[in-house]
Amino acid sequence: MVTFQADPSGMSDAIAGMAEQLRAGERTGAEAGMQLGLPAAVVMAGMGGSAMGGELLRALVAADCPVPITRVRGFGVPAWAGPGTLVVCTSYSGNTAETLACAHQAHAQGAALLGVASGGALAQLAEELGFPCAIVPGGMQPRAALGYLFGAMAGAFAACGLSADGIAEECAQGVEACDRDAAAELGRRLAGTVPLVYGSGPLGAVAYRWKTQFNENAKMHAFSHAFPELGHNEIVGWEGADGRGFAIVALRDPDEPVEIRRRIDVTLDLARPHASVVAALEGHGPSRTARAFSLVATGDWVTYHAALARGVDPTPVDAITALKQALDE
Ligand code: F6R
Repeated sequence: MVTFQADPSGMSDAIAGMAEQLRAGERTGAEAGMQLGLPAAVVMAGMGGSAMGGELLRALVAADCPVPITRVRGFGVPAWAGPGTLVVCTSYSGNTAETLACAHQAHAQGAALLGVASGGALAQLAEELGFPCAIVPGGMQPRAALGYLFGAMAGAFAACGLSADGIAEECAQGVEACDRDAAAELGRRLAGTVPLVYGSGPLGAVAYRWKTQFNENAKMHAFSHAFPELGHNEIVGWEGADGRGFAIVALRDPDEPVEIRRRIDVTLDLARPHASVVAALEGHGPSRTARAFSLVATGDWVTYHAALARGVDPTPVDAITALKQALDE
C-alpha cells in the first residue's frame, strides 16, 4: 500500500517561521540600507515569489513615502531610472534572468542599486559593481522566504529614510496573531473551487499573494482583484457563474473607509447566489500593517491546507523548474 506523506519537504516549517524571518530580514536589510542615501524615486524589480516582498512593502508604505515607488516585473527598468533613483533588485536565487537584466540596465543608466538575494549572480554582481546587497539565508523556496525578503527591504527602507522603523516587527506581530485553525478549515473548503481573492488598498496586494500561493502551493488556478475597481468590471462576471466552482475570499479590515465598506458589502450580496463559497476574513493585530501580514500568513496556511486536501506536495513547483530548464537559466 502506498501511503501519502503530507508535506515531505517541510513547507509548514517555513510558513511557521515567517515572524522570525521578518525580524532577521529587517536586521540584514538595515545594514545594507545604511549604505544608501534617500533617493528621489524607487523602482522595485523582481519576479514571482521574490517580487512579492516589494509588492507588499510598496502597498503598505507608498501612501506615506516621501518619494514615488514603482515596480517592474520583467526585463527592464524605466528610462527615467537614472541618477537619483534607487532600483531594488530582489531575486532569492540571485539568478533570475529578468531581475539581472534590470540590475544591469539600472547600473548602465546611473541609478543606485540595492540587491536582495541568498547568493547567486546578483550577489556576485553587487560585489563586482560595489552596490549593497542584503544576503538572506538560502535553501528555501523563494515564496517561502517572503519574511526574509520583505523584512530585508523594510529594514533597508527605514535605514535610508523611505519609511518608518519597525514595519517588519509590526508585521511579525500580525503573523503571530493569525488563526491557523480557521485557515486550515478554509483551505479544505476551497480545495475544490476556483478562488477569486479580493482586497482593497494594501489588501489588494495581499489578495495577489493568496492567488500566487494557491497556484504554487496547491497547484490550483486562482485569481485576484481589488475593490473598488472590480465593481466596474469583474462583478459582471458573476452573472455568468452558476453557484458551483468559483469561490470568493474577501480580505477585509475593520478600518476600511466607509465608501469601500459599502461597496464590498453590496458586491458580496450580489455575488453570493453565484458563488460556491463566500468567505470574508479580517486579519488580527493592532494596526493595519499588522493585520495585513496576519492575512498574508493566513493565506499561506489556507493554501497549504488546500494542497494537503488535494493530495499534493505544497513545496515543489515543477512547471516553473521545467520552464527555467527549457530556457537554460
Ligand atoms: C518559487 C517561486 C517563484 C520564484 C521565481 C523567481 O517558490 O515563488 O515564483 O520566486 O521564479 O525566482 P527567484 O525568486 O529566485 O528570483
